[in-house]
Amino acid sequence: MAHRRVLWLSLACWAWWTWTWSFCGIRHRGAACGNHALPPGKAKLPIFGDTLEILNPKKMVTYQTERRQRWGSLWSTSVLFKKAVVITGQREMNLARKHESRPRAFEAFFPPHHQRLFGKMSLLVQSGAAHARLRRLIQSAMTPKKVEKYQAFIDLAVRDFLSSCRSELGHFSMTKKLQETTLRIVVQVLLGEDLAEDELDYLRTNLRIWGIGLLSAPLNFIPWSAAARAMRARGNVQKVLEKWISERSEKLDDTLLSQLLSATDEDGSKLSSLEVIDNVFTLVFAGIDTTASTLSSALLKLSQSEDLLQLLREKIADGEAQRSLEMFLTEILRTNPPAPFSMRLVREPLDLGNVTVPSGYLLVYGLGASLSDASCYENPEEFQWERFGNQSLTDSGAFGGGPRLCPGRFLASEAAQRLLAAVLAKDGFSWKLKQGQDLRQQYIPGLFPADGLIVDIS
Ligand code: HEM
Repeated sequence: MAHRRVLWLSLACWAWWTWTWSFCGIRHRGAACGNHALPPGKAKLPIFGDTLEILNPKKMVTYQTERRQRWGSLWSTSVLFKKAVVITGQREMNLARKHESRPRAFEAFFPPHHQRLFGKMSLLVQSGAAHARLRRLIQSAMTPKKVEKYQAFIDLAVRDFLSSCRSELGHFSMTKKLQETTLRIVVQVLLGEDLAEDELDYLRTNLRIWGIGLLSAPLNFIPWSAAARAMRARGNVQKVLEKWISERSEKLDDTLLSQLLSATDEDGSKLSSLEVIDNVFTLVFAGIDTTASTLSSALLKLSQSEDLLQLLREKIADGEAQRSLEMFLTEILRTNPPAPFSMRLVREPLDLGNVTVPSGYLLVYGLGASLSDASCYENPEEFQWERFGNQSLTDSGAFGGGPRLCPGRFLASEAAQRLLAAVLAKDGFSWKLKQGQDLRQQYIPGLFPADGLIVDIS
């Protein structure tokens, strides 16, 4: 309860700070003006607009689906004290993403303390040509071919996951175990080494403190505030990354870190040390909870559907693991998207056909609702594990699209399939849910059951 109060207080402070910041931004850069055809809509509250609902961990997707029922696939509102348009239809999303390919059309939208926490060279906060250059270099280290080379590192972490689950004598949180494992996967893919448990613990602890700072008021000047602690935690992780980078620069190999260090752009330029540090940080942040969330939702679904569990086990025993797991996980991502929305600041008017989103507005991609759009998916409310017979997992709309399409999708897909295949294989394990736990899904971030998916495999 206390944790929730802190979360809400933090969100309110964050919203306040973002408003102050974005208000200054608009004044300096020129506010939106003129008569534009905007979509219909009415913000819920006069000052907060729909901010509290859009950011509510329990309502992020239902907010989008309820508003869509009322206003159609796009609507006007205000978020974080800025005028905003939310889009949830595939047609509008495709138009917006085409527009996004123009160098000055949109800007990444994060308040300054987020920029400090991610690092100013992070893909997440860069925009336009600088973002495109970073993307080329980073994506080149995460292509399907490169990910093939990382498989052995993933398998090492999966083996640790299985033995760690088996060593549990009673109930334990599967969510926590999956988060630990996806951190291990990303770190081992980066370094190619089985990190000692105390080193992983150190990273885990600092990343957790850093993550709390993301949702806190930017009170960096108060040394004991969550924001100041998060910056110190970032410094601790940065020191570890600097050590890894200097060691790895001496002997480049098949690890992700080596690939990042050697990636070369068309003009011969490479990533600077700062770019490597900020983006390794970003990859760790973006890769852990999203992949853990996918796996947690998959295990939750299988806990509640004995027939499907049996069927997938048989498919795996018959050597059809890859196609079956890919279909199943794509439907899991559609029904349980780990990242339900993303935002951009519009810098050049965005023409969506019969409406125009003016410069200075926020554009919210409502990914959550777009994945249950009845014009794209038949009976979207039904879970149909074979729905995506002709589509690869990495084409899932849950990975976003356009110039910011998830660059980690091949790694996430490989990691999720390999872990799930290991659990469902003959020598994997069976599990039982603890009775009476709260299984309602909420974003913390990543989508996880409220009580952490407590299971027993003994
Ligand atoms: C199932 C797992 C995952 C899902 C559902 C997912 C989803 C997404 C989505 C929706 C975006 C686009 C956000 C936007 O529009 O602003 C994104 C961006 C990103 N993802 Fe993923 N992601 C996953 C796993 C990963 C992994 C494993 C990594 C790396 C290790 C990663 C790294 C990134 C990065 C760096 C970006 C920012 C791209 C940019 O701004 O250009 N993601 N992800």
